[in-house]
Amino acid sequence: MPQISSRLSSLPEYVLARVPQRKRELLERGVDVIDLGPGDADLTPPEAALERLHSASILPGMSRYGFGIGLAEFRDTVTAWMKTRFGLQFDPAREIVPLIGSKEGISHLALAYAGPGDRTIVPEPGYASYIGGSILAGAEPYLYALRPRTRFLVELDELPAGVLERTRIVYLNYPNNPTGAIAPIDYLERVVRRCRELDILLVYDNAYSEMAYDGYVPPSIFEIDGARDVAVEFHSMSKTYNMTGWRCGWAVAKPEIAAALAKVKSFTDTGQFLAVQAAAVAALNSYADFVPRNVAVFKARRDAAVAAFRAAGFQCEVPRATMYLWIPLPEGVPSAFFAERLMEDEGVIVLPGSGFGAGGEGFFRISFITSPERLAEAARRAGRVLQSLTAGVV
Ligand SMILES: Cc1ncc(COP(=O)(O)O)c(C=O)c1O
Repeated sequence: MPQISSRLSSLPEYVLARVPQRKRELLERGVDVIDLGPGDADLTPPEAALERLHSASILPGMSRYGFGIGLAEFRDTVTAWMKTRFGLQFDPAREIVPLIGSKEGISHLALAYAGPGDRTIVPEPGYASYIGGSILAGAEPYLYALRPRTRFLVELDELPAGVLERTRIVYLNYPNNPTGAIAPIDYLERVVRRCRELDILLVYDNAYSEMAYDGYVPPSIFEIDGARDVAVEFHSMSKTYNMTGWRCGWAVAKPEIAAALAKVKSFTDTGQFLAVQAAAVAALNSYADFVPRNVAVFKARRDAAVAAFRAAGFQCEVPRATMYLWIPLPEGVPSAFFAERLMEDEGVIVLPGSGFGAGGEGFFRISFITSPERLAEAARRAGRVLQSLTAGVV
């Protein structure tokens, strides 16, 4: 029997690994399931992207290998968007890396910058490809618990000196999945300064840069002085344009860092379907028309979810960004047990904080992936479970 590697066995279970199977079983039993688990909304991509995918897909050239370079039009459009959105200029040929979804790039990047004996700083709870990429590269992740105490920010100065000395990568994601936290500019300035002092690669995961509310405009890390020396930023088409399944994103960084990621990718993939990049061009060009309307839909869902979960007995903050509520549970109610009861007794799927690692215990996550009415119904059911679990607990 071939043995799996120690790297594979060190990987934690993926937070969403068991949910689809259990959901199918519940549906087969006739349960009215409300799935608030994945960050995968029930909304449609921009019409222009659908049309362009169709017209591009029938051009013979589109069916050839894309290689790392991909469509020049995609790089140019991404570069123009970065300029319009953040006021930042990049070189489309040397500073943009097309990705088959940003997850792919984030996890591959560790292979270029970390290896055995190195540490990476991984926020917990956090997106799975930070820990996954680190472990698959043979590096040792240092898990930093994101808690309300630091407003869910990673404070590098709290880390033991021995860890920082060996740290090659720090992963930051603001607006944050799952906590909904945002990063103040003075915080980002501090982190960039420390990363420059310590020669640490700052991986800035900006997947939710366009999903913000109440006038908040998330920055690019490159708006911070000095960031170009040490940072790489990841962007995704997934959430902004409801294109999760299309697998399209990009990394942006100075040429040396972009080239390092592109080199890893040249050994692991041969580019993506070029018609997807063509469609992404159309989506990016529809930004001004599409994104504000889409964000308004998520805002209505956020407002409905906050009101309904509060009415059901939960205390939750109003997130200024992302498509998630990170909801605290009362002391003594383990998040996995709560999520299990909510799924089994009420047919509502949420993600327990402990599924994101020990640092996430005491919370659960819901996603705004269904209508305000269904979110409100889910909250009522969650309130019943909360009551049953806390009855008798003072
Ligand atoms: C924080 C974060 N980063 C990256 C991704 C990956 O997005 P993509 O679909 O571009 O791979 C996600 C998706 O849920 C995410 O939540």
